[in-house]
Amino acid sequence: TTHKLLLLPGDGIGPEVMAEVEKVIGFLGEAGIAAFETEGDLVGGCAIDAHGVPLTDAALARAEAADAVLLGAVGGPKWANVAYEIRPEAGLLRLRKDLGLFANLRPAICYPALAEASALKRELVEGLDIMIVRELTGGVYFGEPKEITTLADGTKRAVDTQVYTTGEIDRIARVAFDLARKRSGRVASAEKHNVMKSGVLWKEVVTQVHAEYADVALEHVLADNCAMQLVRRPKQYDVLVTDNLFGDVLSDVAAMLTGSLGMLPSASLGAVDAKGSRKALYEPVHGSAPDIAGRDLANPLAMIGSLAMALRYSFGLGEAADLLDGAITDALAGGARTRDIAPEGTRALGTAGMGDAVVAALKAR
Ligand code: NAI
Ligand code: MG
Repeated sequence: TTHKLLLLPGDGIGPEVMAEVEKVIGFLGEAGIAAFETEGDLVGGCAIDAHGVPLTDAALARAEAADAVLLGAVGGPKWANVAYEIRPEAGLLRLRKDLGLFANLRPAICYPALAEASALKRELVEGLDIMIVRELTGGVYFGEPKEITTLADGTKRAVDTQVYTTGEIDRIARVAFDLARKRSGRVASAEKHNVMKSGVLWKEVVTQVHAEYADVALEHVLADNCAMQLVRRPKQYDVLVTDNLFGDVLSDVAAMLTGSLGMLPSASLGAVDAKGSRKALYEPVHGSAPDIAGRDLANPLAMIGSLAMALRYSFGLGEAADLLDGAITDALAGGARTRDIAPEGTRALGTAGMGDAVVAALKAR
């Protein structure tokens, strides 16, 4: 089968790191490992320049029709003053919303070769491999009312509302349990049922869904304690499922355990449809890095790792995903470093050099 992949490079370093993914796609095709049919389109600032909007209806339709979307990054100082509704990020938000991408998967992997770059001691992070599953379309970022009002005495009152329904919690819990089955068989669920009603319901629904996954071990943890545990003893976790707000914070904590922003891929998944397939968007966690754009300095590994996630979660090509993840590990073990992960005063590869190192490692496997 040929997999239909929509490539949305975006702005800044987005096109540079996407070019390296295209090298990998080319190799996987030539080697007969995975066949792709790729299309490209614009998102973010470049789409504003070309069409006046950060995502055209045509690009959205292409995303709907694709088996998976790979996105680079959007935004930059050039578009700092465009209207709020059409800012570059609005294109990404529209994609996530219209494709119904409610499950955000952020792996935090510490490559042995990079353990020194972690915020923690080597022995605490070496071999770290956590998957954070963050609910992405509900919770306090979207709940109504959401407003700032002025009180009679002239002071103000701000309101955000945390809302979760049984259905929203049920579907994200299933994503976590399904993932755990393919990994170590352990899920930790983080909420604050001690002080939040949404936490009470979260814990209740996750426990109910767990009844269908007797082979998976479930642990409930209070989100604040979870933050502490991530720093104290991160390797105790495998799959960590949590809501939108806690997931935002906990995934950033986990990111710091791994060394560099340039290393972290992500997946955002939608619901499984009647045909058993699901909408999905894969993107690096980092942004468009305007400070290094156009200078062959960007680390392409987060983007290449995002392709590996697409192989695994959209195309059922677990072996090809392992091969690609292994090639990234090999390239690092062989000393390949971009500036962001190279020790001070040492020579580093450029973006293209790192892409070539991964392709060479793929060939050598
Ligand atoms: P950023 O992630 O673009 O950059 C933060 C720092 O990390 C910079 O010093 C950058 O040079 C470095 N960095 C990031 N990715 C790197 C890579 N692959 N290799 C080497 N170094 C890397 O975040 P920042 O500076 O806050 O935002 C820049 C622009 O990106 C803004 O317009 C922001 O809105 C946008 N952004 C877009 C995101 C997306 O498209 N999903 C996510 C985050 C920010
Ligand atoms: Mg964040």
